[in-house]
Amino acid sequence: MNAFYKMSYGLYVVSSRKGGRKNGQISNTVFQAAAEPPLVVISVSKENLTHEYINESKVFSISILSRNTPMTFIGSFGFRSGRDMDKFKGIDYKTGMTGAPVVLENSVAYLEAKVVNAVDLGTHTLFIGEIVNAETLKEEESMTYSYYRDVKHGHAPKAAPTYAGKPGV
Ligand SMILES: Cc1cc2nc3c(=O)[nH]c(=O)nc-3n(C[C@H](O)[C@H](O)[C@H](O)COP(=O)(O)O)c2cc1C
Repeated sequence: MNAFYKMSYGLYVVSSRKGGRKNGQISNTVFQAAAEPPLVVISVSKENLTHEYINESKVFSISILSRNTPMTFIGSFGFRSGRDMDKFKGIDYKTGMTGAPVVLENSVAYLEAKVVNAVDLGTHTLFIGEIVNAETLKEEESMTYSYYRDVKHGHAPKAAPTYAGKPGV
């Protein structure tokens, strides 16, 4: 058993904007890093369109996914690029107070952040964001990465920091 698989994560949609355009991606690497002020950290692949949008607008939203999120929804936000499709077409979302889109569909809560720092990790950038808005939407349980992997038999693409090279693990 690989020790990395013993680590726990949630599952989120991280969204951002560039001018009037919007995009989002699935991310499991999201965590709160401080309380005063409230800071969150996300790790985003430099190859992703969402990276380009956050770099440009310096804002992002985090939608915390419900355990009941369909695999087709995760497939669209996590395995397709906004370069090839409009991921928000037909999706329930709103424009947040930062101007970033906020996915409401399959979400139990959301947070909005303004980037206050960034750390270059080579393949990925750690964006550190200060929370400027947050709301709980539903009382359903949140999706965890292990539930997604072990119960739903989902896997992660190469852009995910936790990518292991083999599907289903
Ligand atoms: C379960 C799962 C977890 C993921 N976690 C991350 C992550 O933490 N960081 C990241 O950059 N990409 C992650 N990804 C990959 C992106 O969601 C994926 O590369 C997406 O297609 C990027 O879309 P974009 O080009 O429209 O931004 C994950 C995907 C899945 C399915």
